[in-house]
Amino acid sequence: MSKPTPVTITVTGAGGQIGYALLFRIASGAMLGSGTPVRLRLLEIPQGLKAAEGTALELADCAFPDLESIDITTDAATGFDGTNIALLVGSRPRGPGMERGDLLQANGSIFAPQGAALNAGAADDVKVLVVGNPANTNALITSAQAPDIPAGRFTALTRLDHNRALSQVASTLQVPVSSIDNVIIWGNHSATQVPDVSHGVLTDADGAQHSLPEALAAALGGADALEAWLDETFIPRVAKRGAEIIAVRGSSSAASAAAAAIEHVHDWVLGTGSSWTSAAVVSDGSYGVEPGLISSFPVRSVNGAFETVQGLTVSPSVRARIDKSVRELSEERDMVRALGLLGP
Ligand code: NAD
Ligand code: LMR
Repeated sequence: MSKPTPVTITVTGAGGQIGYALLFRIASGAMLGSGTPVRLRLLEIPQGLKAAEGTALELADCAFPDLESIDITTDAATGFDGTNIALLVGSRPRGPGMERGDLLQANGSIFAPQGAALNAGAADDVKVLVVGNPANTNALITSAQAPDIPAGRFTALTRLDHNRALSQVASTLQVPVSSIDNVIIWGNHSATQVPDVSHGVLTDADGAQHSLPEALAAALGGADALEAWLDETFIPRVAKRGAEIIAVRGSSSAASAAAAAIEHVHDWVLGTGSSWTSAAVVSDGSYGVEPGLISSFPVRSVNGAFETVQGLTVSPSVRARIDKSVRELSEERDMVRALGLLGP
């Protein structure tokens, strides 16, 4: 039998905290499945080089059978040459009291040259996941600078928010996380994001499926109690979880972000099956989201491409929240356009 073709994966910010949580899982096969040979490219700035080199030494010491090679560089052209999967993590995290949008100017300028380098040298099938914040708008900048790569190949991470929503629902119902499907994150990976359970499904221990809103209403004491829980507990808890982690841990989420990035790419490449997940993808105008913005939607991955799940009913309260989050995305887009980061 012929050996599977190696996949080249570029990770920017490889010397940082997410890089440290991410690289070992990629190399172990968690992202693309065991048996797929992986060639790692670590792209750092000079200040992060030593940390990346140390991580590479440890990767070698793991003797992962699927890890073919590790190259470390500070040159974007070298880092993205021939890459099949680019995980754009490298950027500054926010500190206490900051919103992710406060990073727009500092981090936006990282993504324009990286987009140009991807455009010049990436493989024809390249898939790009932006993790660095503000992730949606950084993905927009990267895509704008890479006109030869289809816009659908640029995505931003909202899988972490999706997982946070699953976890909050499961602990409220005291059921396994694996019994909950089809929650949704809409909009921006920011405090305006819209965690939505209205199409969720709960599968009980006997395999019977139930409406998630009905199960939650029954557990919480009725429809009014559910509304109050959504407004006062669930939505703010999920949307502000990043800030909660920063306050408690003293630095931003890393292992959970890495786990979400692994799942995002895993599902993108290998498919989602019948259930959905959430990912920030370029809008085609679905659900009234301005075309061209990179916004989170319910998605399926079919034949290596994300497709927005169509035809879902959106309640008036979710509609109002989506509109607010999309307004924020268009304001961010206008800001980076004014900074010249979207090109001429
Ligand atoms: P970190 O400070 O630990 O690491 C960032 C690394 O990026 C550093 O090693 C730094 O040297 C490197 N870097 C900076 N500029 C670079 C460039 N131009 N090219 C290559 N590397 C560069 O930060 P972290 O905790 O790993 O977080 C990274 C980013 O991910 C932050 O913006 C953070 O807010 C974001 N984040 C996003 C999510 C999400 O769900 N989308 C979740 C968690 C964190
Ligand atoms: C998160 O959601 O944990 C990350 O985006 C980090 C942050 O700044 O909140």
